[in-house]
Amino acid sequence: MKKFLIVPSILSANFCNLESDIRKILCAGCNLIHFDVMDNHYVPNLTMGPIILQSIKDNKIPVQIDVHLMASPVDSLIFLFSNLNVKFITIHPETTNHLDKTIRLIKKIGCGVGIAINPATPLNCLDYIFDELDLILVMTVNPGFGGQIFLKHILKKIKYIRYLINKRKRSILLSVDGGINLSNFSSVINAGADIVVIGSAIFDSNDYVQTIQDFKKIFI
Ligand code: DX5
Ligand code: ZN
Repeated sequence: MKKFLIVPSILSANFCNLESDIRKILCAGCNLIHFDVMDNHYVPNLTMGPIILQSIKDNKIPVQIDVHLMASPVDSLIFLFSNLNVKFITIHPETTNHLDKTIRLIKKIGCGVGIAINPATPLNCLDYIFDELDLILVMTVNPGFGGQIFLKHILKKIKYIRYLINKRKRSILLSVDGGINLSNFSSVINAGADIVVIGSAIFDSNDYVQTIQDFKKIFI
């Protein structure tokens, strides 16, 4: 049986009912949620920041957070995410002049380190940081918005990163983000994803729990 984790992206949640939306996700067995931080500079959209995570913590909602930072410059933001139940902080290599230093800042606050690879980002940026990583996030859309169309040609890139991780015998998680729905889910898992980030396909549905079950059922 294939092993994978579905990580709902709350970018598409109903922010007027955020607590209830997250609790539904928990009921479906998802304990990690994807949190897209967008700055209207690195990407055109403007979303949310650590103040929301503080509320989630204060309300004792038992979730861990997978932070995806789409912000530049990024270094000064990182410490704002300490002590907020953040498991991973993923950054884009284009958002820092000193990638190695940024990675060290993430480690310093005790979070796992993720690197996001945009559709056109070459993989040589991973060469000298590979052994420092906990997660590689492959973007199957250009970052900035939920609800975009899945870029099918990136499947080849996912497969190649899977090969690199296996070859180097690292326990780096391979996560895929953008445009994933019930029709393309199996191609993403079969390409080697460990984590599948899903936003609109879950939160635009009428029954989140059922939709998450429908995704899981594809591999039962
Ligand atoms: C896009 C974000 C994604 C987005 C995924 O820039 O990084 O996490 O929320 O949403 P869907 O699944 O709707 O593409
Ligand atoms: Zn994301």
